[in-house]
Amino acid sequence: MTDEIYKPGLEGVIAGDTDIAAVEQTSLSYRGYGIGDLATKTTFEEVAHLLLYGELPNSSQLSEFRSTLAQYRALPPELVQALRLIPTDVGMMDVLRTGVSMAGHFDPVKGDSADDLRRRSVWLMAVTGGVVSARHRLITNKEPLDPKPGLSHAAQILYQALGEDPDETATRLLDLTLILYAEHEYNASTFATRVVASTLSDMVSGIVTGIGTLKGPLHGGANEAAMNMLLQFDSPAAASAWIHEAFVKKHKVMGFGHRVYKNGDHRAFILEDELRTLAAKKDQMNWMEIYDAIKDPMVNEKKIFPNVDYPCGLTYYLLGLPVDMYTPLFVCSRVTGWCAHFIEQATNNRLIRPRSRYTGPAAREVTPIGQRS
Ligand SMILES: CC(C)(COP(=O)(O)OP(=O)(O)OC[C@H]1O[C@@H](n2cnc3c(N)ncnc32)[C@H](O)[C@@H]1OP(=O)(O)O)[C@@H](O)C(=O)NCCC(=O)NCCS
Repeated sequence: MTDEIYKPGLEGVIAGDTDIAAVEQTSLSYRGYGIGDLATKTTFEEVAHLLLYGELPNSSQLSEFRSTLAQYRALPPELVQALRLIPTDVGMMDVLRTGVSMAGHFDPVKGDSADDLRRRSVWLMAVTGGVVSARHRLITNKEPLDPKPGLSHAAQILYQALGEDPDETATRLLDLTLILYAEHEYNASTFATRVVASTLSDMVSGIVTGIGTLKGPLHGGANEAAMNMLLQFDSPAAASAWIHEAFVKKHKVMGFGHRVYKNGDHRAFILEDELRTLAAKKDQMNWMEIYDAIKDPMVNEKKIFPNVDYPCGLTYYLLGLPVDMYTPLFVCSRVTGWCAHFIEQATNNRLIRPRSRYTGPAAREVTPIGQRS
């Protein structure tokens, strides 16, 4: 092959254009707006509108967006029935993958124009939130709840999962994590979704692919893996001993490191401040001591910084959310970024088809089966 360009893991490779997000060492922005600005001045629904429609909504556009979302919230009964059939020990990400795929057979949006795709994206927001909440009810021996009119997306997910109106802190912090998780240019799951779009396949297939890709602990699965790591420790001393042993054994520490950010993840800085306030408010500073007992040596001795999944795991934990819901909640957010990228790819498409470098056996001849040893 001539003009060969080879970067293992596609590190640093520019694989396409996007108008949706810019990830830089020193900043993250969605359609030009800095993540810190969005985190303090908007809600997740506004960010979803920004990603899908290109602009922040005005008040009437936001009302219309929220009422479209509300219109799609009720899951098809056939889907709820399918969720009942899945064994209770199956992981929530696998259930969500199946749930979205099944929901696709009841897609209420017809057509594939850019407007249809945007509307389907809003429907997929409703479906992902609805499946996560319903599944949580079913595995805790409770019946799924009908949506409650008037709640924000974050509050709706919490209400339908936990069965009570969430408090202001829980709603605001879930909303914040949904904003922080919503979009991150060509990360693995978004790239996988764009590959699906590039073959002219359908949006539901793209989202199912995104879910399967996000599940891995090197990607979205890291928020659960990070919390499961912290749950091993009953003291900062135990965490400190563990991390120093991990250095010796060269173990990966979940919730740390990033392919692009080498001096820290802006989203993690924003969320960690909120986490410290939450821990103090809940009188759970012991968890922050354990958190710091892992973080400080990682930063000071290894120069490897927390990514957003590290503070997110503990934030969700202190809000009382079950660990197997953490990566599914990431899906409830990132589905907006995936859909925005699907639309961008589909409306300006070139098939994504890279090359590989062949490293297998040299050319050889087939031995007839009777003569093979
Ligand atoms: C995200 C991640 C896959 C990025 O990987 P990458 O860009 O391929 O980075 P590399 O694996 O090349 O890491 C460079 C060096 O830092 C080390 N490193 C990176 N992340 C690390 C981590 N979380 N724990 C321990 N060491 C880590 C690597 O071992 C490597 O060390 P070496 O040069 O001595 O071999 C990686 O940091 C990781 O596995 N993190 C944990 C999972 C996670 O939190 N994922 C969520 C990402 S948002």
